[in-house]
Amino acid sequence: MLLWAILLAVLALASPVHGAKQLAAGLPLSHRVVYQFPNHTWLENIFVRSNGDLLVTVLMPSAALIQISDPSSAEPTVSIVHNFTSVDGLLGIAETKHDVFTVTGGNFTGIGAQVNGTFSAWEVDLNGSDMYNNKNVNLITSMKPVAFMNGLTSLPENPTTVLIADSALGVVWRLDTLTGRFNKALDFLDMKVVPGSPLAIGINGIRISNDTLYFTNSFERTIYRVKIDKTGGVAMGAAMEKFVQIKEAIFLDDFAIGSDGVIWAVENVANRLFAVRPDGSYEVVEGGINQTTVAGDTAAAFGRGKTDQKTLYVVTSGAQAGPVNGTYVEGGKVVAVDTSGY
Ligand SMILES: *[C@@H]1O[C@H](CO)[C@@H](O)[C@H](O)[C@H]1NC(C)=O
Ligand SMILES: *[C@@H]1O[C@H](CO)[C@@H](O)[C@H](O)[C@H]1NC(C)=O
Ligand SMILES: *[C@@H]1O[C@H](CO)[C@@H](O)[C@H](O)[C@H]1NC(C)=O
Ligand SMILES: *[C@@H]1O[C@H](CO)[C@@H](O)[C@H](O)[C@H]1NC(C)=O
Ligand SMILES: *[C@@H]1O[C@H](CO)[C@@H](O)[C@H](O)[C@H]1NC(C)=O
Ligand SMILES: *[C@@H]1O[C@H](CO)[C@@H](O)[C@H](O)[C@H]1NC(C)=O
Ligand SMILES: *[C@@H]1O[C@H](CO)[C@@H](O)[C@H](O)[C@H]1NC(C)=O
Ligand SMILES: *[C@@H]1O[C@H](CO)[C@@H](O)[C@H](O)[C@H]1NC(C)=O
Repeated sequence: MLLWAILLAVLALASPVHGAKQLAAGLPLSHRVVYQFPNHTWLENIFVRSNGDLLVTVLMPSAALIQISDPSSAEPTVSIVHNFTSVDGLLGIAETKHDVFTVTGGNFTGIGAQVNGTFSAWEVDLNGSDMYNNKNVNLITSMKPVAFMNGLTSLPENPTTVLIADSALGVVWRLDTLTGRFNKALDFLDMKVVPGSPLAIGINGIRISNDTLYFTNSFERTIYRVKIDKTGGVAMGAAMEKFVQIKEAIFLDDFAIGSDGVIWAVENVANRLFAVRPDGSYEVVEGGINQTTVAGDTAAAFGRGKTDQKTLYVVTSGAQAGPVNGTYVEGGKVVAVDTSGY
């Protein structure tokens, strides 16, 4: 039921979908499947450890944190770091100290349909651990006033404080992971759910680059940016800017920002990866509405190993929210996209 509701509504919202446009030379970018999980696995977010291993959050069928070690190799090692039993799914992940992570999760009644007030943040300490024997997982706090936790990022100059996008309330929360105290950091109209959205999702992905917070507003298909201070508040005198609207997109989920300032935004329900240059021009660089390459792409992050710093790791939901060509669903996967020629 919900799947149909989402599909019909998003298709109605979006500008008409044109046939396959000619891609520029060198596109689509070459790619490789790093690992694919069983059918009905929805991978939601990704953080790359300083040693190059990938940490991936699982939203469905149950809340889990997964590690993929040695992602550049033909046979990476995949292991479950931790199963979270008190919530249905995990969402964001950020690093707060060396190899210490904050993850967030909560409950849902269906795809993208959150249960307000069920979200919490946990600390997962992998520093020096062999992951199985002395890893530490502790609740930081539950956050009852939060409606729908989604994107998560730590503050570069104060990384034990994280910012959390609340997709339904359309605000950004600030959480001190050391004390568990939290409050609202940012509250803008540009973060709210746009009228007519089939799901309560406004602000979604959040990333910080050069003291500037970038965020997507999913159904508006926009990326906004605003200069912030050390505490995550708006910098003195700064104004919110609509950086880009990707008109042909149906939805914008999370994104990664490259060292050259290119923003790599994933579309989830219509299976494409967009690259947005610092001048605001953009194009599809991977996938397609009826393609499985990055079907249901939910988030992306660059490699941090010796050989994969130009590799963009894209995680997917297996197109569960918007089946490929209306019918095809697969297991969520991690796809390595080679951006070195871009
Ligand atoms: C995956 O799940 C979908 C929906 O239940 C089903 O149609 C499809 O056949 C499954 N695919 C595989 C490979 O099991
Ligand atoms: C997590 O749950 C899965 C499936 O229920 C199980 O196979 C696995 O051993 C569990 N892993 C941990 C680390 O608890
Ligand atoms: C990580 O572990 C090392 C060795 O036990 C310790 O010296 C260091 O303080 C720890 N760092 C963090 C951030 O916990
Ligand atoms: C979330 O749902 C689980 C069952 O899936 C339930 O045990 C738990 O109490 C719920 N959590 C909250 C905070 O309501
Ligand atoms: C959940 O929170 C959102 C944002 O405040 C609100 O619009 C919605 O009505 C709430 N849902 C329920 C079931 O209370
Ligand atoms: C951040 O600054 C660097 C160095 O000036 C620049 O190359 C990069 O494009 C900037 N990032 C963004 C997202 O604009
Ligand atoms: C995608 O597939 C659907 C169903 O087969 C078809 O109606 C639609 O025209 C296709 N869209 C594109 C862009 O190829
Ligand atoms: C839909 O896409 C899947 C995956 O690419 C393909 O196997 C299937 O044949 C397609 N079906 C139609 C009707 O185009």
